[in-house]
Amino acid sequence: MYRFGTVLSSLLSVAVASASNGFDPREATIASTHHSLDTGLTTCREVVSSFLSRIDLLNNHTNAIISLNPNALTTADQQDAKLRSNNGSYGPLFCIPILLKDNYDTAEIPTTGANLALARSQPSKDAPVVATLKKAGAIILGKANLHELALEGLSVSSLGGQTVNPYDSTRTPGGSSGGTGAAVASSFCVWGTGTDTVNSLRSPASANSLFSCRPTRGLIGRSGIIPISYTQDVIGPIARSVEDVATALMVMASVGFDADDNTTALVPAGTYGTNYMSGLTEGSLKGLRLGLVEGFFNRTPSAENDPVNNAMARTVAKLRGAGATIVSITSPLYNSTALASLDTQRFEYRESMDAYLERPSLGGQHPSTLNELYSGHDYLVIPSQYEYVNTSLVSSTSNTTGRNGGYNSVKQGIANLTLALAETFTANKLDALIYPEQQNLVVEIGSASQSGRNGILAALTGSPVVTVPVGFSNATATAPQGVPIGMEILGRPWTEEKLLQIAYQWQSLGRIRRTPSWAKEVVPVKSYTAVPTVTPNRGNIPAAYPVGTLGG
Ligand SMILES: *[C@@H]1O[C@H](CO)[C@@H](O)[C@H](O)[C@H]1NC(C)=O
Ligand SMILES: *[C@@H]1O[C@H](CO)[C@@H](O)[C@H](O)[C@H]1NC(C)=O
Ligand SMILES: *[C@@H]1O[C@H](CO)[C@@H](O)[C@H](O)[C@H]1NC(C)=O
Ligand SMILES: *[C@@H]1O[C@H](CO)[C@@H](O)[C@H](O)[C@H]1NC(C)=O
Ligand SMILES: *[C@@H]1O[C@H](CO)[C@@H](O)[C@H](O)[C@H]1NC(C)=O
Ligand SMILES: *[C@@H]1O[C@H](CO)[C@@H](O)[C@H](O)[C@H]1NC(C)=O
Ligand SMILES: *[C@@H]1O[C@H](CO)[C@@H](O)[C@H](O)[C@H]1NC(C)=O
Ligand SMILES: *[C@@H]1O[C@H](CO)[C@@H](O)[C@H](O)[C@H]1NC(C)=O
Repeated sequence: MYRFGTVLSSLLSVAVASASNGFDPREATIASTHHSLDTGLTTCREVVSSFLSRIDLLNNHTNAIISLNPNALTTADQQDAKLRSNNGSYGPLFCIPILLKDNYDTAEIPTTGANLALARSQPSKDAPVVATLKKAGAIILGKANLHELALEGLSVSSLGGQTVNPYDSTRTPGGSSGGTGAAVASSFCVWGTGTDTVNSLRSPASANSLFSCRPTRGLIGRSGIIPISYTQDVIGPIARSVEDVATALMVMASVGFDADDNTTALVPAGTYGTNYMSGLTEGSLKGLRLGLVEGFFNRTPSAENDPVNNAMARTVAKLRGAGATIVSITSPLYNSTALASLDTQRFEYRESMDAYLERPSLGGQHPSTLNELYSGHDYLVIPSQYEYVNTSLVSSTSNTTGRNGGYNSVKQGIANLTLALAETFTANKLDALIYPEQQNLVVEIGSASQSGRNGILAALTGSPVVTVPVGFSNATATAPQGVPIGMEILGRPWTEEKLLQIAYQWQSLGRIRRTPSWAKEVVPVKSYTAVPTVTPNRGNIPAAYPVGTLGG
């Protein structure tokens, strides 16, 4: 009997043992890690050391890591002691090494938002969700790069430099949680966390051949996370399998009611404690009605659009073949460019960020307001962000006129959209909407913005989405395995369990995820006396993104 609860056989589990080493971190899952530990093939110290060894040797391929947790090995030793004494119960993430996007508060390491001005900003306590992850046994290996302050999707920052797509060294890894995406794809951890204000849990999953869940707003309390938007922010997991997303989501949601985040009061009774893992196999594609959002495609033939349109066509055919009914949704409402006019970030960012920075529990050296942060030169500006950041410095939720008619008018537009979306579901008897996360391949390094993404619909309406890999572009010289392509599966509020079942059924139709070629390397496990340090490469920031020049 396994000590770690039911260990379901994972479709994606690879062989757990190799000749020289009891644990293979490459493509490891929660189940394969627990299997290695439970059969005595490995120790928790070896599990943690094997991921640290990979980061140590291979991080220069992607520049995904900002910092490592100096306490990771000590925590592993404590878990080994617990295993040896076989004492008590083990949490669902016992000895599972994870990376946090560096906008999650941690008391052990600074929380920087990958922004130079916050390099020494030190929370005195963990975000509630981080405390919950540790309590479930997760080992925080360190922090991953993000697009600075999570404000765009290119994953370049003044503190962390440019993170590179592990499948194509000329492309970005999506974002803003691009460090997490690149790290998970490269097996630098078992899974990782992200945040999502418009696209940021989904774009990195799509661009790195991974699964993620953007939960319904309110499911997971957001306090202790560097904020942007009260209306649009959510947090969630990114992983290499649906099973690991399900387990990670269950643990993250178990943080429960968060007195500092009133959206958590709206969670329906009975939702907390849902075991997303145990229900995973219960769904079926047969008889499902999936709405294909035609407005979320770019049908103009091009080398960047065609691979996405081809992968989606194959996906639709496979889903039909498995018994699902595909309903074409043609309403002009579903136009991501037009929906962007309802974005609330310009109004909400300054107030939310000021509240985060002004908390007495935030120690270390840091600016105390957003305006102070942008009054120095320790930040990076990209052309497309300029207006948005600039406007947020002088705007608030009290704006009653101006851009898009002011805050309340935008909120009314979102309420209208939310109702229209519910009508689409009801009128067409839909189980979910499907569409490509991005209408084109993830953009190249040096691009002005991560264009063509469709995340705005879920972001505005607070709807849950599970993102799944659906294919790759053709191989090229810089992308020997092609560039990954992902699909969003969007549901009504609080239908995470059903969306995960659909994703599981999709995963069961055949493995699509590929390991980046260089990440297949077997890395010898070092015997560390202390956790190594990583130094982010800031020398690779494209010249198009000037550092510290806002308004100047
Ligand atoms: C990473 O560093 C190793 C060791 O210094 C080097 O051999 C390798 O070429 C580097 N790889 C990349 C992609 O920079
Ligand atoms: C077992 O765990 C309990 C609770 O953590 C602790 O109080 C106790 O000392 C442990 N016993 C042994 C033998 O380690
Ligand atoms: C919910 O919390 C937000 C942010 O803290 C606050 O602005 C808002 O007034 C609160 N809403 C209610 C109804 O208390
Ligand atoms: C990819 O390769 C296939 C098979 O060689 C070819 O039919 C297809 O046109 C190519 N697609 C693109 C977008 O280049
Ligand atoms: C989508 O909206 C944009 C901006 O409002 C508009 O320019 C474009 O024509 C619309 N696309 C379609 C297909 O209607
Ligand atoms: C940014 O805002 C400042 C003052 O608020 C203004 O002087 C400047 O022109 C703005 N820049 C842009 C590009 O909007
Ligand atoms: C909010 O009001 C301020 C002051 O009038 C103005 O400068 C700013 O542009 C407005 N913001 C928006 C998003 O309309
Ligand atoms: C929302 O819908 C109401 C009722 O149809 C309409 O009066 C209002 O103008 C709409 N508001 C926005 C901002 O779209």
